[in-house]
Amino acid sequence: MSSVAELLKQAQNEVAITADPHELDDVRVKYLGKKGSITSLLKSLGKLPANKRAQAGKEINTAKDSLIESIQAQQLKISANEIANKLALNKIDITLSGRGPDSGNLHPITQTLRRIKKIFALANFEVRIGPEIEDDYHNFTALNIPEDHPARAMHDTFYLNSGSLLRTHTSPVQIRAMQKEGAPIRLIAPGRVYRCDSDLTHTPMFTQVEGLAVGDNVSFANLKFILYEFVSHFFEREVELRFRPAYFPFTEPSAEVDIRSDSGDWLEILGCGMVHPNVLRNVGIDPEKYTGYAFGMGVDRLAMLRYGVDDLRIFFENDLRFIEQFS
Ligand code: FA5
Ligand code: MG
Repeated sequence: MSSVAELLKQAQNEVAITADPHELDDVRVKYLGKKGSITSLLKSLGKLPANKRAQAGKEINTAKDSLIESIQAQQLKISANEIANKLALNKIDITLSGRGPDSGNLHPITQTLRRIKKIFALANFEVRIGPEIEDDYHNFTALNIPEDHPARAMHDTFYLNSGSLLRTHTSPVQIRAMQKEGAPIRLIAPGRVYRCDSDLTHTPMFTQVEGLAVGDNVSFANLKFILYEFVSHFFEREVELRFRPAYFPFTEPSAEVDIRSDSGDWLEILGCGMVHPNVLRNVGIDPEKYTGYAFGMGVDRLAMLRYGVDDLRIFFENDLRFIEQFS
């Protein structure tokens, strides 16, 4: 019966060197399959003399059981190895910090608008808003720009089929507010405006903040003071400012204000002036009794200067790589 022990030893050696489940199964079949050598030994028991059968049967069955055990142990070893190999291949660095959820941020123009509103709130300017779809009267006529006035052509207006138009500036909000509230009045009017215009510093839709202060003895000096104060709060650094004489039908005298950009060029940020007596008359305010100043600033231009952006159009392309820099 030493041959059974030898056979078992040989089978166990073969099992021990298998490296994958297929090889292991081949060994199992070789010894324990239908025609396997241990199976054959069991089958040949009948040929032994009757007095030896029981003892031989016991030995063969014990050998069979220990081989099955060895195979099962090897199976576990192989699958443990497979897992270890997989882990080694896909190495995950659990010490890296997690990705976390992406969070949005306010658009730089929105952030700039909020900043502007906060600064003017400190100087007691209240916020008023008006419609983006305007009529000719509020956008032009009431602002002392009659039908045949050349300033209309300068505005590159988008007209709607209804005869309405997309407001070309926030100045019509001055008219609506003064009609409703009279004088004295002190407001800013933020909002989108539209012009058929596009290049590095012009976009067809842009943002303005209108300012208006009408009251007793309001002067150009008051206007200059407010604008200087605003600019120093807004930029939080020394900026060069330039008042240039300009013309607007709704203010007299009028000026445009430029700011020196990082590249050294002057960039126009706003138009302003003393409210024209005709405009006050149009809204029922007596120009002998009240005076006022007004300004209209380009918010997108202010954002360009503050953040050092040299192409205005990038604010409206919604490229996340750009927008995310303002979080
Ligand atoms: C006006 O729109 C006047 N309503 C401003 C005003 C108000 C004057 C009250 C007097 C009293 P202007 O067209 O210059 O003026 O525009 C004002 C500012 O808007 C400009 O200084 C500029 O900063 C900005 N701006 C004008 N056109 C564009 C554009 N296409 N894209 C971006 N910003 C623009
Ligand atoms: Mg201008």
